[in-house]
Amino acid sequence: MADTPQGYFITLEGVEGSGKTTQVERLAGSLQASGRTVATTREPGGTRISDRIRAVVLDRENVEIHPHTEALLMCAARAQLVNEVIRPSLARGEVVICDRYSDSTFAYQGYGRGQDLATLRTLNHFATGGLVPDLTLLLDLPAEMGLERRLGPGSAATASNRMDRLDLAFHQRVAAGFHSLAQAEPDRWRVVDATLGIEDLAAAIWGITAQFLNIS
Ligand code: TYD
Repeated sequence: MADTPQGYFITLEGVEGSGKTTQVERLAGSLQASGRTVATTREPGGTRISDRIRAVVLDRENVEIHPHTEALLMCAARAQLVNEVIRPSLARGEVVICDRYSDSTFAYQGYGRGQDLATLRTLNHFATGGLVPDLTLLLDLPAEMGLERRLGPGSAATASNRMDRLDLAFHQRVAAGFHSLAQAEPDRWRVVDATLGIEDLAAAIWGITAQFLNIS
């Protein structure tokens, strides 16, 4: 029997409207074309239970959610996703691409909401069992550009949720938080300019990923 290929865990992070969802699909397509088996997922969500948590935590009507509840729900959704989907996929040798992961909790609940980062790291470690991505791509975009894409004229009304309705200052703290996280772990993070058009951004992401996975 052939050896199981090595699994890889790749995450995409960034502010609202940075184009992650499109780029997850593009990257998955390129990896599949190169012969890799790919699993794509997103956070919060990606399992039946995590999607139910997502509905609670992102519902615009749930204005009374306490910041601690918000952090715990994000971590609860992640615990289910890691154990039900991500770890099994990696064990099968697949490339798992996740649209947001733990770094979104540090950026949004930590830098954005001002919750204690050390506590969030402890909670997150409990949720993930210490599973850290092999590669994290930061789709770097000024917060105001992302919000304009997400909420401005021409955006889909359904695209807005409880988080992206928060004010610009919050999203600027999130953007700065992502930069701090990327700077603190340069071996894991690669920063790509998300002001690029879809094709150029896809090419940049593919270049980084192909090099990382040694795909020629
Ligand atoms: P989503 O519609 O998936 O937005 P996006 O396309 O920008 O990823 O909504 C996810 C929202 O949840 C987004 O505003 C970021 C937020 N979020 C957190 O606040 N903490 C987290 O840990 C995660 C995973 C997401």
